Amino acid sequence: MSVDKGPFIINLKNYLEISGPKSLLITREAEKVSQDLGIRIMVSPPQVLLAWVSKNTTLEIVAQHVDSSQIGPSTGFSIPEMVKDSGAVGSLINHSEHPIDITIIAEILKRMKSLDLVSIVCAKNFAELKELSKLEPDYIAIEPPELIGSKRSISTEKPTLISDSFRYLQSSDVNSKLICGAGINTPEDVRIALDLGSSGILAASSIVKSDKWYEKIYELAIQFKDSK
Ligand code: G3P
Repeated sequence: MSVDKGPFIINLKNYLEISGPKSLLITREAEKVSQDLGIRIMVSPPQVLLAWVSKNTTLEIVAQHVDSSQIGPSTGFSIPEMVKDSGAVGSLINHSEHPIDITIIAEILKRMKSLDLVSIVCAKNFAELKELSKLEPDYIAIEPPELIGSKRSISTEKPTLISDSFRYLQSSDVNSKLICGAGINTPEDVRIALDLGSSGILAASSIVKSDKWYEKIYELAIQFKDSK
């Protein structure tokens, strides 16, 4: 497993703070930070804004979810082919707020690989990370659900989950890189996670709910620079 640092992924979820045009405003702030620091930042906007945000930023945009439904008659589903044509470069999959069956994840990954889409598969615990790593997504994001949206981070509450996950991926034969998230609020949270072996960070509420988006993204993202 390679330990190159990045990406820093900002999941906008469906928070009202980033509703409608505000999704593009926060993405533009992230774009400025990315340019100012030279850090790879990805943004995951609400599904309904995916194409619009993608077309109006130079940042890499990822979907929050993708379905395995067929091309054509699959009303209301987001399929990999449409995600790609919307301008997104990849997708989160199996977020704990949108879990899916492992057989479906396997189907989706196959399709995403053939389309050259970046896959970020979420795991809620170590057992799930081990299981999902067999599917070799590009990234596995470990996120304990009980810490998501809280002020308690995976870095301070469950540091060994990060180091164990890192060691497991490193010692196994898979090429998936580690990302971690849940409760990432402070620069220290990012620093600890990167020091423990995480390549990337997945964060949402601390950024979206901040009243200074640029400053908040900057203080978290700059930790990638220092850890290089
Ligand atoms: O996808 C990111 C995520 O679930 C973490 O959310 O609000 O704890 O940063 P949050």
